Parts: sequence; C-alpha cells; structure tokens
Amino acid sequence: MAVKIEKSLLRVLGGEVLATPPVWLMRQAGRYLPEYRATRATAGGFLELCYSPDHAVEVTLQPIRRFGFDAAILFADILLLPQALGAKLWFETGEGPRLAPIVTRDDLERLNPVEAIHDTLAPIYETVRRLTAELPKETALIGFAGAPWTVATYMIAGRGTPDQGPARRMMYDDRALFADLIDLLTAATIEYLARQIEAGAEVVKLFDSWAGALSGSTFEEFALKPAQKIARALKSRFPHVKVIGFPRGVGGGYEQFARTGDFDALALDSSVPARWARDVLQPDVAVQGNLDPMLLVTGGAQLRHEVERLQEILGKGRWIFNLGHGITPEADPRHVEELLNIIKG
Ligand code: CP3
Repeated sequence: MAVKIEKSLLRVLGGEVLATPPVWLMRQAGRYLPEYRATRATAGGFLELCYSPDHAVEVTLQPIRRFGFDAAILFADILLLPQALGAKLWFETGEGPRLAPIVTRDDLERLNPVEAIHDTLAPIYETVRRLTAELPKETALIGFAGAPWTVATYMIAGRGTPDQGPARRMMYDDRALFADLIDLLTAATIEYLARQIEAGAEVVKLFDSWAGALSGSTFEEFALKPAQKIARALKSRFPHVKVIGFPRGVGGGYEQFARTGDFDALALDSSVPARWARDVLQPDVAVQGNLDPMLLVTGGAQLRHEVERLQEILGKGRWIFNLGHGITPEADPRHVEELLNIIKG
C-alpha cells in the first residue's frame, strides 16, 4: 500500500525536490531562547535537562512552537553515550564537557558492555516516545548520535581540544587500542540509534563534528567506514529510516560520502562551496546547509543576501535549509523569524 508522505523533510530525504525547502536549525533548542534558559534553570543543569523526559520534551518543542520548523531534533547530547558506557561525564560551567579520559587498555576494558547502555539511556528513549505523540503531524522527528571518531576525541582527551591532538596521537601510537575504542563506539552507536528509531525517530543524524581533523587513510578508516557501517546496519534493520551524515570540515571528502549511497542527506559545513555541492553532491544525495551561523547574530541585508544566494544555487535540487553548524547563544530570535520569512515567503 502506498502511503502518502506529508512531512517535507521526509519528502526531500526520499528524493523529492520541493519549491520551498524544509527548514530546521542545528541547536535550535538552546541558549539563544529565553524559554530554554528558563527550563534549564528549573531542571537544575544541562545533564539534568537531558535525562528528564518532561523537560527534554519541553525544550525540544519550544522552537517548534515559536518558529514552526519542519523538523524537531531530540534534545540530548553526543556525550551521553560515553557516559552510558561508564565514562564519568560532567560539564564545567562556562568551559564545556569533561570526561574521565581513556588513556590505557585498562581504561577501555573498564567500560561497560554495549548491552548495558540502555539502563542509562532509557529516559532518552522515553523523550523520543513522548515527542512522537506531541509533535505536530507535519513535523519530522530527528534522533542523533555522535560519530565514533568525534566521541572518541572527547573520551581520549577528557575534554574538547582545539586540534583533537590526544586522539590523533593515540591513533598513530597505539592503533590497536584506538581501533578497539572506535569499534566499541560503532557497535554502541548502532544500538543507541536503533532504540531511538524504535521509539519513533524517523530520521537519524550522525554528528562527526571533528571529522576534518582526520587525514589520509585515517579519514577513510575512522570517519567514512564507521559512518557507513552504522548507516547500513540501521537500514538493514529499519528499511524506511533516513540517515543524515555530517562529516564536518572534510572538504572534498564529502564527495566520497556522497558516492557511497549509504546516506540520504549530507549536512554541509559553511566552508563547502554551494556551487560545488550542487554540481558534485546533489546529483547523488540531498544536501543540508549551510548558512554561516553568525548571520543569525547580525541579521539584516547580509542575512537576506546569503539566504537568497543559497536558494538560487541549491534550491533546484534536493535541499534542506540549515546552518553550517549550531546556532550560537548570541543569535537573535528575531533574525530566525526573519530567516523563515525569507525562505517561506
Ligand atoms: O541540535 C540540537 O538542538 C539537539 C541537541 C544537541 C546538543 N548537543 C545540545 C547541547 C546536539 C545534536 C548536540 C551535539 C553535540 N554535542 C556535538 C556535535 C555537534 C556540534 O555542535 O558540533 C558536540 C561536539 C557536543 C558536545 C558538547 N555539548 C559540547 C562541546 C558542549 C559545550 C559547548 C556549548 O555549546 O556549551 C555541549 C553542551 C550542549 N549540548 C548545549 C546544548 C544545548 C549547551 C548546554 C547549556 O545549556 O549550557
């Protein structure tokens, strides 16, 4: 029986070209919204917010109510998975995440087996279930996870780093240990995303925010291959699920991702030239992106100019409007309103 797909995001991921692209923004639930800051204060902290289905549902819905985006993204964080594997996680106010670092094989072996992650992550699945009931019928629900490499960079360094130095160093110095960590994360990510899909996520996005720090054969081995493995495993279990890849910063490596045929869309960082994406990527895959997030801080004529430029170049192919990276806390909600007026007319 043919089912008519109404959600614009699913239509584009299914191969259609729409006159008006679906719109959502990375980090659309976040500190630029006063209602997010209020709920976060009530929850008591960021991790408390992630693990409370009541509060996580509320902040996921806030940008949908305010702006009517075409998709909602589950409110959670890529570092919840290492936490569920047993790596201690906390957030230092004003500084970012901290984890107990993985330095030796003992550290790796002390982690939990993959089956154990669901004990910790059960509230996340509950948030997804509730969202499927509460979202407007035209709004798609996106689940997500960090890609193994990006999650490994935080686990190995114990924090964010400017150049992912500690992870790159382990990758060359102790290849076996590093590869075992990547394999564990790949297996755990498949099970984590499978549960999100079973709970109702229609689309999943794999955030490889630091893929651009890989090079040579390590790009293929530790960014491309794990992403393909995850996409294929999920599609073999859930033939209708859509997968968005986000190998941020890989430049021409986007072409290799597109050629695999394993992804329904690729999220482009702001450095990817729109004309190149149109000519090289769009024939094979839907593209998502890639406005500079700074334009939602500044607004005005430059915002209009760059949005219209993207419409002109990417609008004739499979395209999902988004930013090249997350919206920042300094963004002005009025500029988001302006952006939607430009795109939706
Ligand atoms: O996009 C969404 O709205 C969904 C929720 C989401 C968050 N983090 C919420 C969040 C998603 C998809 C992420 C992904 C994530 N988390 C990534 C990959 C994407 C990217 O931005 O590159 C990474 C690297 C992380 C790890 C992480 N989480 C860092 C480095 C930080 C601190 C930096 C910062 O922005 O504060 C976080 C915290 C975080 N994750 C916040 C939010 C809304 C801010 C927390 C707060 O309220 O203080």
